[in-house]
Amino acid sequence: KFKKRIGLIGFGCVGQGLYDVVEANRHLGWEIGSICVKDKEKPRSLPASAFTYDVQEVLQDSSIDIIAELISEPKEALAILRQALQQGKTVVSANKKVIAENLPELIQLQQRHGGVLLYEASVCGSIPVLRTLEAYYGSEPLVEVRGILNGSSNYILSKLHAEHGSFQSALAQAQELGFAEADPSLDVEGTDALHKLCILAAHAYGLLVHPDDVLHFGIQHITSEAVELADALGCRIKLVGSLKAARDGQVALQVLPTLIPETDTLFDVEAEFNGLEIEGQFAGKQFLKGRGAGSHPTGSAVWADISAVVRGYRYTYPKLCTSQARATSGDEQTTI
Ligand code: HSE
Repeated sequence: KFKKRIGLIGFGCVGQGLYDVVEANRHLGWEIGSICVKDKEKPRSLPASAFTYDVQEVLQDSSIDIIAELISEPKEALAILRQALQQGKTVVSANKKVIAENLPELIQLQQRHGGVLLYEASVCGSIPVLRTLEAYYGSEPLVEVRGILNGSSNYILSKLHAEHGSFQSALAQAQELGFAEADPSLDVEGTDALHKLCILAAHAYGLLVHPDDVLHFGIQHITSEAVELADALGCRIKLVGSLKAARDGQVALQVLPTLIPETDTLFDVEAEFNGLEIEGQFAGKQFLKGRGAGSHPTGSAVWADISAVVRGYRYTYPKLCTSQARATSGDEQTTI
């Protein structure tokens, strides 16, 4: 049924990662049919003839059966997702900001036009968190989902603890290694982790929560004194996103820098790694750890979505349209 031709939109860190993974799997018959980029001047690993600069060439190419949307500009990314889904196409994306802020519309577009959108790569890089949560959803009530969701801020905090160097030089390294966003304030201000938390809320609890409604702080105000104090207490400072089931079907959401003691599973999630602890009512605690950022780990997650969609995998969104559950954030409450 699938022609196995991928239309790649965006050839930055993640686009290049997907390209490399697809090339390494050529024996499976997949090929990148078209690559669209915006900047004609940017030096790239492929010759100029490999690229188109007109996104419509990809979106309207009937020989392409999967669109990989891997750009960072939110408005352009949303327009691409809308058009592709309105055409009933299959799309994979790593764009957590766009997905978190527009999930109700993106779900409706899939329901209305029969297209499919998967976005495993948008949360925790290489770790298959959304598929794991969907395996619990509807059968196992989740007590709590908490974890380290942003590789760059974790990298910076790890460096501050290990080397006591400057925040700015640790951030510069995270950027150089391809972990940080094009706009790194999304990483350090906790917004990227917040976007991922909102996506997790949809797949763990069936909650559609807009990021603007959730309490969050980043790591931008973490001083060397705070790091030294944490060290003296035998703790590490980690940026932790959490979803906790409360009474009456409510869920508390927050992203906060947190003192993590050595006994906590998140203590040893270091550098660009992400870690997620999932606690089911009957299953108890499960822990997932893997590379949360970077070209190949994130490209591998996009590739996993492509492999999954071909096998017929779809998100179930079991309660999204009917849920009466509430999201709580500090004193605020959002009724879904
Ligand atoms: N900037 C993100 C991070 C990339 O550091 O986690 C992966 O989503």
